[in-house]
Amino acid sequence: MNIKKPRGTSDILPAEIPAWRFVEEVCRRQAAIYGFSEIRFPTFECTELFARGVGGTTDIVQKEMYTFTDKDERSMTLRPEGTACVCRSVVENGLYAGALPLKLFYLSNFFRYEKPQAGRTREFFQFGCECFGPSTPQADAEAILLGDSVIRGLGIKGCVLHLNSIGCADCRPAYRAALKEYFASHYDELCDTCRSRLETNPLRILDCKSPVCSAIADGAPRTTDHLCENCRAHYEELKSILAQSGVEYVEDPRCVRGLDYYTGTVFEFVHGGIGAQSALGGGGRYNGLIAELGGPELPAIGFALGLSRLIMAMEAEKAPLPASGEGSLYIAPLGGDAVTAATLLCQQLRTRGVKCETDITGRSAKAQLKYADKSGHTYVAVIGTDELAAGKCELKNLRTGEKTIIALDADSLAAAIK
Ligand code: HAM
Repeated sequence: MNIKKPRGTSDILPAEIPAWRFVEEVCRRQAAIYGFSEIRFPTFECTELFARGVGGTTDIVQKEMYTFTDKDERSMTLRPEGTACVCRSVVENGLYAGALPLKLFYLSNFFRYEKPQAGRTREFFQFGCECFGPSTPQADAEAILLGDSVIRGLGIKGCVLHLNSIGCADCRPAYRAALKEYFASHYDELCDTCRSRLETNPLRILDCKSPVCSAIADGAPRTTDHLCENCRAHYEELKSILAQSGVEYVEDPRCVRGLDYYTGTVFEFVHGGIGAQSALGGGGRYNGLIAELGGPELPAIGFALGLSRLIMAMEAEKAPLPASGEGSLYIAPLGGDAVTAATLLCQQLRTRGVKCETDITGRSAKAQLKYADKSGHTYVAVIGTDELAAGKCELKNLRTGEKTIIALDADSLAAAIK
């Protein structure tokens, strides 16, 4: 039987790991710099969390969840996103009662039953950040600047921040009504999905990719023309902070995001060089979600970046990976006593924290040297009877070709491997 991985999933092979590790390290480093602590949460949650948290009219809840019934007849769902999970954890563990702002980040895998294409998979990885407590534009700016720092930290230059505000509970109903009236006057031209969205969530029509709906949406009323005084002032202040911080943005009235929990500020980091799935990440304010999940009124802002799309953008821009700074040694024994000596020496070096390998296959010196080079070792030392007798060996730097004679003991070798 030839078993293949499920459609829309990927193996991340050893050759790809350095890029993933680099991305994860930059995410962790920037999160720490901005004062965010890591949180981990279950891979599956009660289905109701996402139905209530993400919203019943969203594509995620309507079409994309991996939902199953467990042996106790409870409906469970593989996490399709992290915000609802973090909010559930904040409420369940009473984290809101501690020091505010509460700033949390996660690096996790998520699952959505979407049609796979470049940049869109059924299992994917996100770096997500959520900040609870402040409702200020400064908190919004901090979240956006953190996302921007990660993207810049990876060497990605061709990413544009799309910014919008979709208003709050005070101003959104009037905007929604204006939008509904506008789209109703184009009812016959809308696609079937948008016709049903007209009743359930007219804002999402602005996001429709069908050329006809998209052309109609171009003429739709803009959220930013319908903001209440608070939302307007908040949005203006945010734009001013971003401009002064040197973050370039475009105001995008069509940026409304596909999840129901957003209020006020919404944004996406869009890259032009990675195909149709061009959002490296996105987020926004969600001031009502904690209360919706049974907690207190607690404003929040957050975002998530898709790790595979960050890697795609780095590849598209040929952004270099930093060279590993750590040296490693391959000890090639020429047979006889040298084999045991190499094994013991290798072990002594490992206990000293040196990355080190020796032959465990019994193959020829030539084959060993080929292996040492292919596996990326920085140094090689060949040892035979002469080296053992002299208590010295030649240490060759495979990067520079430089050769040095060095005492054949773990301390001397460990000191020489940089
Ligand atoms: P989202 O826009 O659904 O937002 O996902 C954020 C990012 O995750 C996307 O921009 C994309 O890079 C990546 N992503 C999403 N779906 C896929 C997929 N099927 N394949 C590959 N990458 C994908 C959220 O998930 C919100 N929870 C973000 C947030 C946090 N809002 C506030 N806090």
